[in-house]
Amino acid sequence: MASLTVSGEARVPGDKSISHRALMLSALADGRSTVRGILQSADVHSTAGVLGALGAMMPPLGDETLVVTGRGRRGLRAPSTPLDCGNSGTTTRLMAGVCAGHPFESVFIGDASLSRRPMRRIARPLAEMGAEVTLAGDSLPMSVRGGALRAIDWTSEKASAQIKSAILLAAVVGGVEATVREPERSRDHSERMLRAAGVQVTANGTSVTVAPVESLDPIDIVVPGDPSSAAFFVALAALATNGELRLPAVGLNPTRTGFFDALRRMGAAIRVEDERDEGGEPVATLVASASGTSLRATRAGGAEIPTMIDELPLLACVAARAAGTTEVTGAAELRVKESDRIATVVANLRTLGVEAEELEDGLRVTGSDRPLRGRIVTHGDHRLAMAFGVLGALPGNEITIDDPSCAVVSFPGFWELLSAVAGRSHR
Ligand code: S3P
Repeated sequence: MASLTVSGEARVPGDKSISHRALMLSALADGRSTVRGILQSADVHSTAGVLGALGAMMPPLGDETLVVTGRGRRGLRAPSTPLDCGNSGTTTRLMAGVCAGHPFESVFIGDASLSRRPMRRIARPLAEMGAEVTLAGDSLPMSVRGGALRAIDWTSEKASAQIKSAILLAAVVGGVEATVREPERSRDHSERMLRAAGVQVTANGTSVTVAPVESLDPIDIVVPGDPSSAAFFVALAALATNGELRLPAVGLNPTRTGFFDALRRMGAAIRVEDERDEGGEPVATLVASASGTSLRATRAGGAEIPTMIDELPLLACVAARAAGTTEVTGAAELRVKESDRIATVVANLRTLGVEAEELEDGLRVTGSDRPLRGRIVTHGDHRLAMAFGVLGALPGNEITIDDPSCAVVSFPGFWELLSAVAGRSHR
């Protein structure tokens, strides 16, 4: 088997979830916020574009330090055009919450993938709070006519930070209390950043409550590296045969780190160094060592699924190289991501000759060390392109990706970094 050695450092761009939220809260604060290290990806540009269309003053995202002068808690203005959210579910759902608290109508539109994604999950609680929300079936285009909102105590059927955040943001803008109860805990970046903006946020197990506020304080944020982007390089290092790779300044919020835990169960060695807190989020250097020939299958399910939800396509790709059968369950949400990730991941693994099977709420993948060859159909799904890109970077595999450019949705520069790390280490 051809060997792959990794070495040196790979720096990944800023966290996507935190970047969206930093722009939204800065736009709604009273005064000047500063945001350093924002992710300049297509999805974050969608949020900046939507906020700009609503009258927020958005500086160019290319600035090293963004200084945003907020419009105030209910200071956005009626848009004169539909709000184009591109490929971004987070932009759509969180901004629907923001708009629900404002006294005007907004119409949300998006690309073909976003236009297939379910929106009733946010329309229902926002309507219960008093907004008028109209959908085409369950999907975009979605019109939100906001206004005076009522307090809400909402039990969500899904563990979803987008549903939770839509409700919390609507409550903050509307000046009312909200409680959201989830079956499992989803990522808590909104809660952490709202606290930094002076909101009283009380978390209790899997439920969270925000108290009404008059105004939001400006925030000062350094966006950590995105653990979902770091995951591709941690996986590459784990699949390598020699060496280790350092990833500085990666966000390690425990609601996001399930993939690293799963990879450790598979036999990967991942160290955490220089752990610190930055703006209310844990940040550290990850050091991932090569374990390629000794990875073994694992099982993932239950409460850990939300902590690795975006990494499951990658976990399935790593499983194709691990001894035994990996099984993921309790992950039906994968079917309503940028693509139906259960169907698209399994179909692509099979194209490569990997034994893989769809479950209603997950998948099964049996690993081997035979060379993998074939063309990946991404359906424009950025995480599929990158997950299979990692398999393609392993010596001996010949994998082409139909649309590598879709990586810009979350990780501009991914392919350059991948060839720098894998290329500098081919033996
Ligand atoms: C996100 C939440 C998750 C995740 C998405 C980003 C967020 O979606 O898959 O990539 O920033 O809140 P769900 O909340 O729908 O699970």
